[in-house]
This record gives sequence, structure tokens and C-alpha cells, in this order.
Amino acid sequence: MADGNTLWHGRFDGDPSQALRELNDSLPFDRRMFREDIAGSRAHVEMLCEVGLLEASELQEILEALDLVETEIAAGEFEWAPSDEDIHTAVERRATEITPSAAKIHTGRSRNDQVANDVRLVALGEIDSLTEVIGSLIRALLVRAEDAHINGWYLPGYTHMQQAQSVGLAHHLGAYCWMLLRDVDRLSQARQRADVSVLGAGALAGSPLPIDPSVVADKLGFSSVFNNSLDAVSDRDFVADLLYCLSIIGIHLSRLGEEICLWASSEFNFIELDDAFSTGSSMMPQKKNPDVAELARGKAGRLLGNLTGFLATQKGLPLTYNKDLQEDKEPMFDSCDTVRLTALALTGMIETLEFNAASMKAGADSPYMAATDLADFLVERGMPFRTAHSTIAELVRQSLDSGDDLVSLVQTHEHLGSEAAELLQPGVGSRRNSHGGGGSEAVAAQLEALRERVGNLS
Ligand code: ARG
Repeated sequence: MADGNTLWHGRFDGDPSQALRELNDSLPFDRRMFREDIAGSRAHVEMLCEVGLLEASELQEILEALDLVETEIAAGEFEWAPSDEDIHTAVERRATEITPSAAKIHTGRSRNDQVANDVRLVALGEIDSLTEVIGSLIRALLVRAEDAHINGWYLPGYTHMQQAQSVGLAHHLGAYCWMLLRDVDRLSQARQRADVSVLGAGALAGSPLPIDPSVVADKLGFSSVFNNSLDAVSDRDFVADLLYCLSIIGIHLSRLGEEICLWASSEFNFIELDDAFSTGSSMMPQKKNPDVAELARGKAGRLLGNLTGFLATQKGLPLTYNKDLQEDKEPMFDSCDTVRLTALALTGMIETLEFNAASMKAGADSPYMAATDLADFLVERGMPFRTAHSTIAELVRQSLDSGDDLVSLVQTHEHLGSEAAELLQPGVGSRRNSHGGGGSEAVAAQLEALRERVGNLS
């Protein structure tokens, strides 16, 4: 005869093996959902009372027991029992110790709909918190962009990691703001799909009891309720959606991290990191390392791993609930924590770093960076762009081959002359004022649009 410790021992003669318990138990990681689990139980028992399945006095006792359980867990005073397989069994076991009425908590409910609902509540809370964290990073970038714009700072813009055209630093930082604003949009779309209550789906097929899932949904603040109990207990698309959002955010943070690593290098020397956001070398005293930025780059790997791993977990699952789905929580928690911490650290790094405007300017003021502007000068005077391109390319080659100064070559060129040579002067990039371009007027308009979008975030 089994020792009777588990919730399901009734039909078993023998006890579960140690290995099964260790593999099967999700308590070590799902205890993090205790608030959501208890909130779900509160809503469920209140509904049971409303539909006549619980006496008002029983409801009262159960609610008080749930309050006590929550307080005990929050205070770290909860005594976990070896039979507590997961957070659901632990809460129910303890509530039943406090009041025998709690043996009715699980009326018309299964852990299958319970866990899916808990994970949805966690996802909603995480999305709200991550949206704030990403919002703060966008704000930090925007503050630096505004400041860079006022100071008129510019740097070489790159394609293929080759210096291409000079761009305003505000334009460059603004690009990351737009990237991250898309992430905020994506999170809010993922939120909509998570925002569906599934409590009341039962193990898989609903219940003969007069339960009312829409009452539970309302009490928990969900916007809608499931339509198909089979889908409800087995759907974890919302977890994959969130992992995808977090992977894209991870990629964006990684790209920003890589940019910071490059900029902080002695070769670029575009920025100086604050001591609070850099580390030293245990061997080389001169080093100041951009570890936060490197980790932002490195963490993208695990975020992608969490997404692809969980997609693979789901792909072969028949309806409905299968224990494989217990694998939803660790990647989701890990990705949320990883993005939160990485974004927080990057925000601090962005807020405190110093731009080395002189180094940026030195790189951007090379006359070769104005080659496209020279071609555009000829186009403005009626020359087809292809001809203009090869004319300027020829001049650049001549200058590189002969070592002759490009400015004097331009000055003496029959189609160019001193007006064109003006374009080789520092700061020419500020003329590129086409829509969304890097010119100072276009960037001013862009910053205005960014301010509005960022203002709408909170
Ligand atoms: N710990 C489980 C999970 O995370 C809860 C659901 C268990 N359901 C079951 N029928 N054994 O998915």
C-alpha cells in the first residue's frame, strides 16, 4: 500500500521512486508562482460559492486559510513537505491542514487548467514589468540622443563595418529607440494572447458541475475566457510568444552591447564607460572591460536557446495536457529574468557613459565620408546618378593612388569646384534632411516623434 503522501496515491500500491520524484517535481521552480496560484484558488472558490457548490462559511474558512498560506510562503516560513510535488499540491495540502473545508478547493478543477492559468497570470505580470524595464532603457537612450543633438555630435556611420557616411549621434541612438519601441509593441501583442482565462477547463473536458469560468475570469481580471477545454489545457502558444519577444529583445540588446564594446575599444575610443559599469582585469592593470555589454551580447544565446528548446518541446504533443508542458516554466522564468537584468544594467551603462565627441568627429570628418554628397551635388546639377557615382569614384581613386588631397582635386575638377569642396567640410551630414534621414532638421523631427511615443508608454 502506498504511503498516502501524494494527492493521487489512491489507486497505487507502491510508492514513487526517488528518481521519479526528482524528475517529476516542479516545486523547486514553480513555487515562484505561489501568488498567482493562490489568486486563482481564491477566484475559483468564490465562484464555487456563487454557484452553490460551497457554503459561505466554508468559503470564509478557505479564504482565510489561503491568506495564511500566502503569508507563510511570502515570509519564508512555509514548511514544504516531501510530498509537495508542485506549488499547487503544496498550497492545497497546507490549506487543508489549516481547515478541512479546503478539501473542497479542487472541486471542478484540475491541476491541468490550474497550472495553465497560473502561467498565464505570471506571463501577464512579467510582460508588464518587462515593458517598464524596456521603457526605461528607451528613455535613457532618448535622453542621450537629445543631448547629442543639442551638442551637434556626429560620428562615422558604417555599412559592412566600413566608414560610410557621417551621421548624427542622436540619429544613431534614435535607431535603438525605434527598435526597442517595436519590442514594446510586440510584448503588448503577446499580452493579448496570454490574457485568456482557462480555469474551468478541468482536466481536459470541462465539468458536469455548474461551474462558471467567466466569473473566475472576471475576478482574476482576464479580458476573455477559453472556448475549448482541450485547447485551454494544452495551449502554451502564449509562452512561446513571450519567449520569441524576449529573443528579439535579446538580439537588440546584443546588438547594442556589441556597439558599446566596439565604441569602448581603444581603436574606436568613442566612449568612456563609467567605473560602476565596467570591470578590471586581474592581470592587466590598464584594462577597463565592458563586461555588461559583452554579457548583453552573450545572453542572447540563452534567450534563443530557451525559445527553440521550448518550441521543440511542444512540437510532437498530442492533445491535451502532457507532462512535457511542465517544461514551459523554467525557460520562461529564465528569459524574463535574463532580459530584465540585462536591460537594467544596460540602462545604467547608457546613462553613465561619456561620449568622446572629438574621436567620433575625427573619424567622421574624413573627406572620403562625403563622397556620396559629392555625387549628389552633381545629380542636383542634372548629372545622372550613375555617371556622378563613377566620376566621384574616379576622383577618390586618384586621390588614394597619388596621395593628392581630395579637397584640392575637387576644387580643380571641371564639374565640381569650390562650392562642392564645401561639402568636404566637417558636419556636412547635417544636410541630409530627407524623411527619417540623419540631417539635423530630420533628426529634430524624429526626436519629436520619439518623445511622443515614449510619452505614451507610461
Ligand atoms: N506541475 C505540473 C506542471 O507544471 C502541474 C500539472 C500537473 N498535472 C498533472 N496531470 N499531473 O505542468
